Amino acid sequence: MSRAIGVFDSGVGGLTVLRELRRALPRESTIYLGDSARMPYGGLLIETIRRYTLEGLDYLRDQGVKALVLACNSATSAALEAARARYDLPVVGVIEATARGVALSGSTRVGVVGTEATVSGGQYLKAIASYRPDVEVLQQACPRLADLVERGETRGLRVELLLESCLRPLKDREVETLVLGCTHYGFLRSSIQRLMGPEVKVVECGPSVASAIAVLIEEGAIERGNEESPSHRLLTTGPAWSFGRAAAILWPDEQPEIETVTVGMDNDKFRRQAA
Ligand code: DGL
Repeated sequence: MSRAIGVFDSGVGGLTVLRELRRALPRESTIYLGDSARMPYGGLLIETIRRYTLEGLDYLRDQGVKALVLACNSATSAALEAARARYDLPVVGVIEATARGVALSGSTRVGVVGTEATVSGGQYLKAIASYRPDVEVLQQACPRLADLVERGETRGLRVELLLESCLRPLKDREVETLVLGCTHYGFLRSSIQRLMGPEVKVVECGPSVASAIAVLIEEGAIERGNEESPSHRLLTTGPAWSFGRAAAILWPDEQPEIETVTVGMDNDKFRRQAA
């Protein structure tokens, strides 16, 4: 059996990246870890996000994965460099691949919505400018939105009002492309598309990241898996039922088993708070 690809997010958001990874690479096994007990990461100190992320990645490394995917923009902003220095494995973040795709798409005015950590880190600005300095990039933080998604609240008045206030400035500036710079927002994609209008291209991180990993496999930087029936383990530090509800949206024909695990020292305290 070949080794799995490890995928990490603060919670359920990275499942939207995992879905694309599974579509693009159907013979690869995966192990996904969502740190739901300690999410949202987006409003935390960068040092805290980095520590939590490395604890999660250590856990995946200890499962024997062959590559690590940071399927979280906040974790990528805070910890990609530290992760690359720490592990003797290929580590792929979401920002570089997504920014490259957007920069080369021909749009001249791009909006990015994300958490406070991602917006303040400014890595989409830098990455897009490195390919196309003439592209205007407008960022907008959407505090609390990922948290609602994590709790299964993907529609209703509260979500609509939050989306409306977060998207309005970007709509008013007539962005041509909108990057969902938080993987949780993939669960809100149709509402976001409706609010932005059909002329705006809404871009999620998953497809670009899946292509970037496919390229690394093609180049031999990640060992190729060739499973007839690959396995897909889903691990969470939070409640299995809420994680299972998100997975059921993306894979309605599967009833995946959700494993609950403990990661990091602060976990129990947060788990009690969440209960
Ligand atoms: N899914 C994460 C991201 O892409 C953020 C959610 C959180 O705040 O924990 O940024």
